[in-house]
Amino acid sequence: KALVAIVPAAGVGKRMLSACPKQYLQLDGLTILEHTVNRLLSVADIQHVVIAISPQDGYFNDTGLAGHPDVTTVFGGKERVDSVLAGLKAIDSSRYPWVLVHDAARPCVPGQDINALINRCRESGDGGLLAYPVRDTMKRGDASDQVLETVEREALWHALTPQMYPAAELKAAIEKALEDNIQITDESSAMEYVNRTSILVAGSSENLKITRPDDLAMAEFILLRQQANG
Ligand code: CTP
Ligand code: MG
Repeated sequence: KALVAIVPAAGVGKRMLSACPKQYLQLDGLTILEHTVNRLLSVADIQHVVIAISPQDGYFNDTGLAGHPDVTTVFGGKERVDSVLAGLKAIDSSRYPWVLVHDAARPCVPGQDINALINRCRESGDGGLLAYPVRDTMKRGDASDQVLETVEREALWHALTPQMYPAAELKAAIEKALEDNIQITDESSAMEYVNRTSILVAGSSENLKITRPDDLAMAEFILLRQQANG
C-alpha cells in the first residue's frame, strides 16, 4: 500500500535566469522544492520521498527538508532521466513496488490529482500519468515558421507529473532506453519505448512546471488561491 515518490531536483534552471536553481526560489515563504515535497507527503499513501539533488547543490541543507525523517537525498545526473534513475536505484522495490515521479518544479499539484492518479493506477493495474487535454488549435510549422497543417487536437494531451509505474519495470525501461540512446523526457516515454501501457489521468492545468520567470507570479497566484479554497 505504501508508496514512495522520487523528485528530480538536480537541474540548474537555465531558462529561469535566476541566481540560484529555480527549485530553491522562494514562493510564499518556502522554497519551491519544500512546497512540492510537502504536497507529496500530505498524500496519505506516500510514505517517503527521495530527492535527487545536484552533487554541487549548495542550498538543500538550508531548507526545512534537511534531516526530515521521511526524506532521503541522492545525487542526480546530467539529464532529468539520469536523476530519476539515481532515485530508482536507491529504492528497495520489494518494499515499494510502485513509485511516483514528480518534478521539483511543480509545486502547485493538487493533492486530489495525486490521489486520482494513485486510485486509477491501482484499479487498472497499469501505470499512468497526470495530463490535461490540449485546448488551443494546434499547428505544425516548418523551419521558417510557415504553417504546414492543423494537427488534430482531440487526441493531444499535455503530459504532467506525477507519473506512476512499477519501480522495477520503470528502472529496466529507462536503462534500456539509455542503452539504445533514446531521448527520454518523462517516465511515460521510457515505458512507451518498451511497449508498456500507460493511462492518461485527467489533472488540473494549475499543475504548471515553473520554467520561465513569468511562471513564478502565476504559481504564487495559484498557491494562494488553493490555500484560500482549502
Ligand atoms: N532535473 C533533474 N536533473 C537534471 C535536469 C533536471 O533532476 N539533470 C529536474 C529539475 O530540477 C526539475 C525537473 O527535472 O525539477 C524538470 O526539469 P526542467 O523544468 O527542465 O528543470 P531544469 O532542467 O532545471 O531547467 P532548464 O531546462 O531551464 O535548465
Ligand atoms: Mg531541463
